[in-house]
Amino acid sequence: MRPLVLLAALALAPATVLGAGAKAEKGSAGSKPEKGTAGSKRGAAPAGLSALSRGCVECHASVTPGLVKQWQGSTHAARGIGCLECHRREEGAADGFRHGDAIVATIVTPRDCGRCHQREMDEFEGSHHAKAGNILASLDNYIAETVEGARIPFNPHGTEPGSAPLMVDGLASAQSGCQQCHGARVALKAKDGGAPITVDDLKPGPDGRPGNEAAVARIARDADGKPSLVEATWPNTGIGRINLDGSLGSCSACHSRHEFAARRARQPENCGRCHLGPDHPQKEIYEESKHGVAYRDQRDQLKLDAKRWVVGETYSAAPTCATCHMSANVNGGKVTHDPGERLSWTNRPPISLRMDTDAQHRVVTEKDPAKRKALVVDTWQQKRERMKAACTSCHAPSYVDAFYKQYDDFVLLYNEKFARPGMEIMKALKDNGITTPVEFDERIEWTWFYLWHHEGRRARMGASMNAPDYAHWHGMFEVAEDFYQKLVPEARELIDQAEKQGKVAQAKAAGAVLDGILARPEHAWYLKQRAELAPVKGESNRPPARSN
Ligand code: HEC
Ligand code: HEC
Ligand code: HEC
Ligand code: HEC
Ligand code: HEC
Ligand code: HEC
Ligand code: HEC
Ligand code: HEC
Repeated sequence: MRPLVLLAALALAPATVLGAGAKAEKGSAGSKPEKGTAGSKRGAAPAGLSALSRGCVECHASVTPGLVKQWQGSTHAARGIGCLECHRREEGAADGFRHGDAIVATIVTPRDCGRCHQREMDEFEGSHHAKAGNILASLDNYIAETVEGARIPFNPHGTEPGSAPLMVDGLASAQSGCQQCHGARVALKAKDGGAPITVDDLKPGPDGRPGNEAAVARIARDADGKPSLVEATWPNTGIGRINLDGSLGSCSACHSRHEFAARRARQPENCGRCHLGPDHPQKEIYEESKHGVAYRDQRDQLKLDAKRWVVGETYSAAPTCATCHMSANVNGGKVTHDPGERLSWTNRPPISLRMDTDAQHRVVTEKDPAKRKALVVDTWQQKRERMKAACTSCHAPSYVDAFYKQYDDFVLLYNEKFARPGMEIMKALKDNGITTPVEFDERIEWTWFYLWHHEGRRARMGASMNAPDYAHWHGMFEVAEDFYQKLVPEARELIDQAEKQGKVAQAKAAGAVLDGILARPEHAWYLKQRAELAPVKGESNRPPARSN
């Protein structure tokens, strides 16, 4: 049930100027909010809507009516969790400002939500999701900042009629692309017009309060004391946003404001906002799988609004992304805010790795068995069992085991036939000075990137979530084309060129790696077709006759 005060707020007078309204409108609500039950249970949650929050609601009902209506429909509103309970800041907080009778900030971070949702925050902060803002050193980031853009602002080379010449921001592609999914490093403008202030300058302590007063003093503030967020870094609700208080990520990446419902987070469209496209088409994969088909058919039977949402108990028509990766199941699986807890492979790197993880939830790459054992805290087998608990809420165990056998075989085929050899070829070219140290200046570097980052991921992800078209036609078929029709001939050409340029020893060394790979039995069919080579003994040179 909802406090009656909200209904009263709807009928309020038009906008008042900031500062004047807060006090004037207070108490205009006809009745006291009902006593919530959650507040007493959760400590930090108030029993009813606080007086200050009532002020926010009343004024914002005319300043930002849409926003207030969204909040009014939420569980938070029903439980008396108002604007200030989330937006409040302590005196001295870097991004805090006096607003009416309170000190508030615009951005509400996981640390703020964690005041009442400690478990969710801890799980989330430990997940790869929270770390997704750390992409600066990645190859993908080099593409956005250097290949697509420029790491320094540069002069325009002409102007459109009606627009004055400005500098071109070379990082615009990274900001509107990568960082909207991965998360920006939130920054405040500086007084001196100098470098913006981020968490690195503020050095917050464990309580989130800034540890560096000098940095706080540099923050530019308007006449009302309000700081400005750097536009390049906000709006942003990327999953791994790097916040000013030292927390990572954004809860509203999935729980859209201001409703913050579990319902929306449970729907595939929510995850599909980021999990789609040529390099990780999980949404498209799901849509074409039998699970996605069942979801579309029987969506209305999923009871998405239920408070307890347990597959096999609350619903059984179809699994969504959340069902398999985050939500509870009848086999004892509990809700988790770390979707990595149920994955046995990571299919993101060029070569898939087993998800043995250490105390910091990092994938362990150590090869020595004893050292590896000492590092691993949670094994890939344990993670797989957690996922199987979801599957076997609907399927027989033997069915699920057989699925995992198919999936493992597929990943191993990709790894061993194409990924590891591709990597060896690229390394041989680089180590021998045949390709330059600069990434993406040579055709073959694009080819290799397509092979593992686009086609190779699609293939593996298609196999992991029952989408044969992605496993095959958008996947392994294109991997094979990249390998045989692009990577190998391009490597051969570069090696020949190097030889002509006098790098004879280097060309020989790289050539030996390439020939060694192509001489393996799984590639023999390809060499056999080449006129300069004799057919392999005992085998026909002709491709099999078409049967369709
Ligand atoms: C008397 C009216 C009034 C009251 C009371 C009020 N606000 Fe506002 N608020 C505004 C107006 C007007 C703006 C937009 C102009 C601005 O940013 O100052 C705004 C802007 C904001 C913003 C966005 C700031 C930004 O980054 O531009 C937040 C967040 C906010 N209010 C939260 C609150 C909270 C929380 C409360 C209660 C503690 C509250 N407001 C009380 C009128 C009010
Ligand atoms: C459950 C916590 C929570 C509550 C309750 C809440 N907010 Fe917010 N609010 C957020 C989050 C999270 C954001 C997103 C900030 C970001 O990351 O950009 C936000 C953003 C905003 C913004 C700026 C973004 C925009 O769309 O303009 C305003 C203004 C705002 N809130 C006002 C309010 C007001 C007014 C209320 C009360 C009616 C309120 N909030 C209640 C968490 C909350
Ligand atoms: C002051 C305490 C408080 C703060 C701060 C707070 N919440 Fe809540 N939240 C609650 C309470 C109380 C409930 C209701 C719990 C219940 O019904 O068991 C709730 C429920 C929820 C739900 C489930 C609602 C539904 O309808 O499915 C979500 C999701 C949620 N909160 C997310 C957030 C996020 C994200 C933030 C930060 C932006 C946040 N909360 C901040 C107290 C808070
Ligand atoms: C549409 C949202 C979206 C955009 C835009 C996007 N990414 Fe991603 N990125 C993702 C998702 C989702 C994953 C995880 C995919 C998975 O696990 O299957 C990911 C994975 C990655 C990874 C692998 C992380 C790891 O742990 O191995 C890197 C690095 C990366 N992205 C960097 C970038 C960079 C740099 C850009 C811009 C050039 C970018 N991404 C653009 C959503 C996006
Ligand atoms: C990757 C998407 C995602 C992000 C990010 C996320 N959540 Fe959730 N959250 C979910 C899903 C899905 C559920 C529904 C679980 C279920 O089926 O009951 C949920 C449920 C909840 C609930 C309801 C109680 C429960 O456990 O079912 C709360 C409270 C909550 N989230 C808080 C948070 C907070 C706080 C953050 C940030 C620290 C956060 N969430 C970030 C996806 C997300
Ligand atoms: C705002 C963008 C965004 C949303 C929304 C989002 N994700 Fe992600 N997800 C990412 C990015 C980016 C990564 C890669 C993180 C990394 O490794 O750097 C990722 C990684 C993952 C992983 C791999 C985790 C691991 O430990 O390796 C899983 C599984 C996942 N997401 C599932 C989900 C599910 C399920 C949802 C919806 C409930 C969801 N995600 C919503 C961006 C998002
Ligand atoms: C029927 C259960 C199921 C559904 C539904 C499902 N997944 Fe998955 N997902 C899996 C399994 C199984 C794996 C592979 C786990 C492993 O490697 O052990 C996986 C792997 C992943 C990964 C890891 C990819 C990587 O980089 O290694 C991501 C990200 C992901 N799923 C996101 C999603 C998203 C987003 C949706 C919804 C659009 C979704 N999943 C729907 C079962 C499911
Ligand atoms: C909510 C119940 C539910 C859960 C949980 C679930 N499935 Fe399914 N699964 C279905 C339904 C329904 C179908 C479609 C059956 C049909 O159309 O004949 C299906 C179909 C399949 C298929 C057949 C695909 C095909 O093309 O024929 C496989 C394989 C499968 N699921 C594996 C899994 C795995 C692995 C998991 C866990 C990672 C899982 N399922 C989780 C309900 C579920």
